Amino acid sequence: MAIHVITGGAGFVAVNLAGRLLDRGVGVLALDDLSRGRRDYWEPFAGRDGFRSEVVDLTDLTAFRAALAPAAERGGVSDIWHLAANSDIPAGIADPAIDLRQTFMTTFNTLIVAKEVSAQVLHFASSSAIYGDLGEQAIHEDIGPLEPISNYGAMKLASEAQIRAAVEAHLPRANVFRFPNVVGVPATHGVMLDFVHKLRATPDTLDVLGDGSQRKAYLHVEDLVEAMLFIADKAPARYNVYNVGPSDEGIHVREIAEIVRDRVSPAARIRYGTGSRGWIGDVPRFRYSTERLARLGWSPRLDSRAAVLRAVDQIVAQETGRP
Ligand SMILES: NC(=O)c1ccc[n+]([C@@H]2O[C@H](COP(=O)([O-])OP(=O)(O)OC[C@H]3O[C@@H](n4cnc5c(N)ncnc54)[C@H](O)[C@@H]3O)[C@@H](O)[C@H]2O)c1
Repeated sequence: MAIHVITGGAGFVAVNLAGRLLDRGVGVLALDDLSRGRRDYWEPFAGRDGFRSEVVDLTDLTAFRAALAPAAERGGVSDIWHLAANSDIPAGIADPAIDLRQTFMTTFNTLIVAKEVSAQVLHFASSSAIYGDLGEQAIHEDIGPLEPISNYGAMKLASEAQIRAAVEAHLPRANVFRFPNVVGVPATHGVMLDFVHKLRATPDTLDVLGDGSQRKAYLHVEDLVEAMLFIADKAPARYNVYNVGPSDEGIHVREIAEIVRDRVSPAARIRYGTGSRGWIGDVPRFRYSTERLARLGWSPRLDSRAAVLRAVDQIVAQETGRP
């Protein structure tokens, strides 16, 4: 059985991906240091054929190699889905070493082991953060110059560059997925979870970072995983780069605050901050072009608003234990 390795395998996107890969009948090896991911996210896969997991810090190359050795012997590693990263953008602004380690060095080491185990494809979870703040310009994959405004975006861009070079040197194939905010469960971070936590702590007030005018595109994780699999199956080149997202221009933070308030604590007063950025490195609005992926034949089922509505229901159920 060919094995698909997922780095950052106990994270939010990864556990959604693992389920779909197992559905396809491939073996999955999930690797995570549990710095943000959670061991209990692996519980639903415990009884499933072909699922294995290992707690390992992927910046430790010796430990990374050891974690892969049984899989390499079992059936060979065909695909590596590289999802490990620091997903907390403000944490990386406060300490750039976090993004260097968790985002770039995990990529660097993943490419070393990909060569050693002769992996056929590397799939990389990149980000719209590599584009920086391009205002109202439509962001397509070939736009430039690329000037990320967060360390997170900088280390994702550096990772892409390293992957591109590996395709030239030894890697047979790579797919790069650049996606914006992804929502759904299990939620580990993000604006919706933050609002739900705040409202449960103080049900009469919701404090919002920034003035609420930030507008962003949101993609539901179920759509994202379908897009990743679609690109993996259909993308034509050795090195493929795709924006993945909804085709609408997004939804304002103000609307998200109202949706969560109405769902969790309808009488709460919403208090906005000042400025259009939630934090340093936050891109207040962007127009994302997903035409390349549409031409390949895929578009999401849910637009930004529908993705947010579905995710809020799922996150409230996750946090309260009630459907
Ligand atoms: N969720 C989003 O909105 C979004 C948007 C764009 C890109 N991405 C990217 O998609 C990927 C998955 O994101 P997510 O939202 O599931 O994040 P997540 O934080 O839930 O998952 C990342 C996982 O990587 C693990 N990890 C970090 N450093 C590690 C290390 N040194 N060794 C082993 N594991 C390590 C963490 O423990 C975590 O489980 C990430 O690369 C992220 O940057 C996410």
